[in-house]
Amino acid sequence: MLTRRKILAAAAIVCTSAAINAGQIKVETADISLILDGEPGGKLDLCYFGEKLDDTAEFEYAWHITQPDTPEEYGTQLYPAYGGRFFLNPALKITHADGVMTTELVYQSHGQRAIDANRTETIVTLRDKLYDATVDLRFVAYNTENVITQEVTFGHNEPGEVTIENIASSYLTLKASNYYLTHFHGTWAREMQLVEECLTPGVKVIESKKGMRTTQSDNSAFMVSLNAPAQEYSGEVYAGALAWTGNYKMSFELDEAGLLHIIGGINPFASEIKLGAGEDFTTPAMVLTYSNQGRSSISHNLHDWTRRYNLAHGNEERPIVLNSWEGAYFTYDENVIKRMIDDAAEFGVEMFVLDDGWFGNKFPRNGDNAGLGDWQVNKKKLPHGIGALADYAVSKGLKFGIWIEPEMVNPDSELAHKHPEWIVRSGNRDLLPMRNQQLLDLTNPEVQDFVFGVFDGIMSMSPNISYVKWDANRHVDNAGSTYLAADRQSHFWYEYIKGLYSVYERIRQKYPDVEIQLCSAGGGRIDFGALKYHDEFWTSDNTNALDRLSIQYSTNLFFPAIATAAHVSTSPNHQTGMMLPLKFRFDVAMTGRLGMELQPSQLNGEEKEFASRAVVLYKQLRPVIQLGDLYRLDSPYDNDGWCANMYVTKNRGEAVVFAFSTTYHNRTQSYSIKLHGLDPDKHYLLEEVNTISGNSNYVGSGKVYSGEFLMKAGLLLPIGGAYTSMVLHLVEQ
Ligand code: DGJ
Repeated sequence: MLTRRKILAAAAIVCTSAAINAGQIKVETADISLILDGEPGGKLDLCYFGEKLDDTAEFEYAWHITQPDTPEEYGTQLYPAYGGRFFLNPALKITHADGVMTTELVYQSHGQRAIDANRTETIVTLRDKLYDATVDLRFVAYNTENVITQEVTFGHNEPGEVTIENIASSYLTLKASNYYLTHFHGTWAREMQLVEECLTPGVKVIESKKGMRTTQSDNSAFMVSLNAPAQEYSGEVYAGALAWTGNYKMSFELDEAGLLHIIGGINPFASEIKLGAGEDFTTPAMVLTYSNQGRSSISHNLHDWTRRYNLAHGNEERPIVLNSWEGAYFTYDENVIKRMIDDAAEFGVEMFVLDDGWFGNKFPRNGDNAGLGDWQVNKKKLPHGIGALADYAVSKGLKFGIWIEPEMVNPDSELAHKHPEWIVRSGNRDLLPMRNQQLLDLTNPEVQDFVFGVFDGIMSMSPNISYVKWDANRHVDNAGSTYLAADRQSHFWYEYIKGLYSVYERIRQKYPDVEIQLCSAGGGRIDFGALKYHDEFWTSDNTNALDRLSIQYSTNLFFPAIATAAHVSTSPNHQTGMMLPLKFRFDVAMTGRLGMELQPSQLNGEEKEFASRAVVLYKQLRPVIQLGDLYRLDSPYDNDGWCANMYVTKNRGEAVVFAFSTTYHNRTQSYSIKLHGLDPDKHYLLEEVNTISGNSNYVGSGKVYSGEFLMKAGLLLPIGGAYTSMVLHLVEQ
């Protein structure tokens, strides 16, 4: 038996064994190492996860802990199953075909291959000591982005069904004095509220059981900072997010030895998976990254990775949108929409999106109580059809987009009468409405075909449809399926999302170029699982710029600005009643993918003029904002009434700074900020842009500064009044 020796490093768990070189497996990116160790028949240990480590031989003789009784049983396993001496929450819990509840996984083999110049795949196969059951751990290391994804496949050939009660996508063990967890709670119109807490012994759980719209109340994305609260530009931070649109559970278990175990994956709640011999089950991927330079690098890693690998058209600039919802709601006809298109064209907006209300005849969609499911154009409102409107938009130089909510049905619809068996239901229990609607059962292939058909049918209405907003305004209550067998009801949660993804796949195969917005009542589906099929998400139904500052700040810790739809809406704001200056509303929306969501005819002349100039400006700044690096300068969560961020091009030749005052400071105060991400040796011409008059009174505008000065000494900005803001454009000289 091998004697295993454990090294506890500040950043991560380190272990070694007698035959280190034979058993060591390295999953590496440019700046990160994940080092595993396994010998055939022995446990697979997590040796190290942290800053890139080239020389691993020292593990042999460094400080170690021995467990003389049964040394190998106490190792820091990379993927512990319930069984043997493992007593914490496990990564895997299954019941074998013969009823045995324990599993002891040992290393069997591993393989590594280059997928391409930037990606390496590593698959480590574990097997049960006694049963014909295997676990494949699949890692993909994205070199330049410093992201590692992990997914897990369980399979068996036992003589009967095996039940999976819990199967995590990843299990990480960290060692530090303290662990500071950042996570995001919320609700509709108040999503992604950042909380950072020092973990105490026991288990902290973040989860969703909402089934198919899981990120409004909490998000699976998290960060753990070691030893101190997370800083922007220093300190060790680990981050993860589950690429999954269904139920998830993230557990942070601080054990009696002071180790933190992070278990992340689909939520085991009411979700037993039964597998026959020869069948297998694959988890969604956990997306992981690490930095020893604080949160900022974490965001850069994830933003770069998202744009390159996990977002449709991730490196193409997004058009500026006018969306009809808050400007017209359900009350419009062809003339109203044409007038909005005219105004959009006048502003220089590049895309018009027709939101809810355009469909249903027998049950017209004139409110949220009817019509969902009947995806035929409402002849009364739009007698010439969608094609005519799309053509009209194109004739005015705009692209055209349209809203759908294809997973849903109103009881008052032709679809609900025709296919009551397609509705998600739990036996004979009452159907509980939410926003007057029910959910279609996407575990059923017929429903999958229907939902695909809705998209396909919409696209066939006009070759001029280039954008689809995919909404989902309820989650799952009383889960169950008339399609799934009685003994497979617990597969509902998983199969629903697999069904949804299979529809997304078909859509993307047939319509690779169409832009698709992931809407879901705003903020309900902001996850890497769904995002890879989409171009952007609707960040929140709350369009109040003040609230958006904190929502977008948190969202952008993980997800990039290019995908963050942010619309200027009217004042007073429809969700909050708050009145904010148009410039402030534009400045906030310009930090993401700018759009407008109002009735343009209600703007007065001066407002129209300002909006038109802002649109021209955004087009100029857009490459920096959407494709550059985000640097957070000051958080809206620190309650000092100011916040700021900036974007810098990859070559550090151009930057845009956004600064906001969110309260009244007094007449004399100025806001002092230091910039980040510039080249200290370069010189930049600074201009204040997006001013109300078109000219700047700021004394620092029009001057040249060194990058060093801006980052070390910084700027004093004259924004002390409530809801005042400044946008600065810096260009290398
Ligand atoms: C919820 C979305 O988030 C809104 O933007 C809008 O599309 C409505 N649904 C329409 O019903």
